Amino acid sequence: MYSRIVGTGGYLPENVMTNADLEKIVETSDDWITERTGIKQRHIAVEGETTCDIAEKAARQAIEAADLKPQDIDLIIVATTTPDRIFPSTACLLQARLDIHGCAAFDVQAVCTGFVYALSIAEKFIRTGSATRALVVGAETTSRILDWTDRSTCVLFGDGAGAVVLAPSEEAGILSTHLHADGQYSDLLTVPEGVSQGFDKMKAGEAYIQMQGNEVFKMAVNTLGRIVDETLTANNLEKSDIDWLIPHQANIRIIKATARKLNMSMDQVVVTVDHHGNTSAASIPLALDVAVRDGRIKRGETLLLEAFGGGFTWGSALLKY
Ligand code: COA
Repeated sequence: MYSRIVGTGGYLPENVMTNADLEKIVETSDDWITERTGIKQRHIAVEGETTCDIAEKAARQAIEAADLKPQDIDLIIVATTTPDRIFPSTACLLQARLDIHGCAAFDVQAVCTGFVYALSIAEKFIRTGSATRALVVGAETTSRILDWTDRSTCVLFGDGAGAVVLAPSEEAGILSTHLHADGQYSDLLTVPEGVSQGFDKMKAGEAYIQMQGNEVFKMAVNTLGRIVDETLTANNLEKSDIDWLIPHQANIRIIKATARKLNMSMDQVVVTVDHHGNTSAASIPLALDVAVRDGRIKRGETLLLEAFGGGFTWGSALLKY
């Protein structure tokens, strides 16, 4: 028995911020952002628009694409680093919005690798018979933890939500998932504030992403190269067996390095970073949804999903769509 993706959905806040808009806020340029990151624009939630709001839109779309009703869902996992509340989890808030009652619902926090973690957990629930229809969402309002005076971080991120529904299948679906973390690098990419530290910066609205960009870049390229090898070896596959690479969308240069490692042409790589920026846990399900809806990804094709993020965390999923 496999677990298989039977529906995808995505949602981006309507409000778009271009590089030209950023030029008015910090000392930067469209040329610099485009050349160093590949980003041209990102979507930013308006005041009052929360992670649960955008998660709900993506979730409803995925459930509809799966030809199901919300009440068919019996497991909800939301990957997010920007929850609406400290508790209840965004998954519980989403469950109430969808008028679903009683099934397990919880959040997963693995920053940009969050969706791969959540997918890996849901896949095991389905394969072991603990759930039959799992809703897996990656949703973020990362703009809320950005320092809009720090040009080295505020140009990189955006808000959005992506979702999939997993169901049991005798046909091949998710073939393997690979999860890793190494907390010794926690300070290279962090929001160094939280409840048990006193919450002062949070209360002052000053809990922001801090990043050693160069260090993160090098670690991301090397680590993603290794996880590609690990995934192929575990499945006894060659590079040429992969039809589509669906990478976490942080920086076009990191994405190109992974594609080169796989000897893949960029035509086989789903790229949304130009329009979405880095939407953290939402980036992979959003990219998947875009390429499913525009007809590029077809049933039966082999997809490699991979991500790297704060923690550090990193992971991959190999699947037949
Ligand atoms: N606009 C213009 N100049 C900028 C800038 C901006 N938005 N941000 C930084 N700069 C400047 C720096 O101040 C530096 O100037 P200096 O040489 O005078 O000191 C110069 O550009 C080069 O900065 P550097 O950090 O070396 O650039 P880079 O080529 O490493 O690119 C990142 C910076 C952030 C784009 C890149 O390091 C990166 O993508 N890192 C990984 C980020 C990531 O993926 N994070 C999330 C992982 S999930």
